[in-house]
Amino acid sequence: MTSEDTNTVATAPEPDWDAQAAAFDDEPDHGLRDPEVRAAWSDRLGAWLPEHPADVLDLGCGTGSLSLLAVEQGHRVTAVDRSPVMTERARTKLAGRAAVLCGDAVNPPVGERRFDVVLVRHVLWTLPDPAGVLRRWRELLRPGGRFVLVEGVWGTLSPVGIPAGELTAFLAPLAREVRVERLSGHTLLWGKEVDDERYAVVATV
Ligand SMILES: C[S@@+](CC[C@H](N)C(=O)[O-])C[C@H]1O[C@@H](n2cnc3c(N)ncnc32)[C@H](O)[C@@H]1O
Repeated sequence: MTSEDTNTVATAPEPDWDAQAAAFDDEPDHGLRDPEVRAAWSDRLGAWLPEHPADVLDLGCGTGSLSLLAVEQGHRVTAVDRSPVMTERARTKLAGRAAVLCGDAVNPPVGERRFDVVLVRHVLWTLPDPAGVLRRWRELLRPGGRFVLVEGVWGTLSPVGIPAGELTAFLAPLAREVRVERLSGHTLLWGKEVDDERYAVVATV
């Protein structure tokens, strides 16, 4: 367990994700169009996900870029997004290789199914009550399953997001092992230099 100071950063008003969908993949880390950026994310994801083919639930999947990488690594992916336009784009990108559902990430429409991995990138910080959401997501994991959470704090003047210390504190009662990987210095992931807080947490339950 990594222990870090916790401090709260403001949440922003929720963007109109339907309106943002058309340009979403223009950001290097969203669309993963640059082969070097894509390879950087693929390498990271490969290290965070189980070695064997696993059931992965990608919540707030957006246009499905990470889902596609997970599929390409042999995993069985279910992707969920609340934005109908994002969902449609993810369906196109995944071309039938994953189940893409339109629904709420907080209570995803997966019935009694359980998963080996709950994968969430850049979504948790937008949700009210992230600690409660993590408790709910914990119920979606099989014993020995893991959270793979990629989050951060964006901007310096009026930062928004969730600091790693806060997220790991929320996970402490839910997971037996919590590992933080700092990502800010890894320019290839972002396609540019960044100086704000970017990280991934892999938490095994
Ligand atoms: C910043 S994007 C991240 C997309 C994707 N995870 C990625 O990393 O490329 C946030 C996504 O979360 C979705 N989202 C936000 N709140 C949601 C909710 N309560 N349920 C489902 N999806 C949600 C938005 O529609 C949007 O597609």
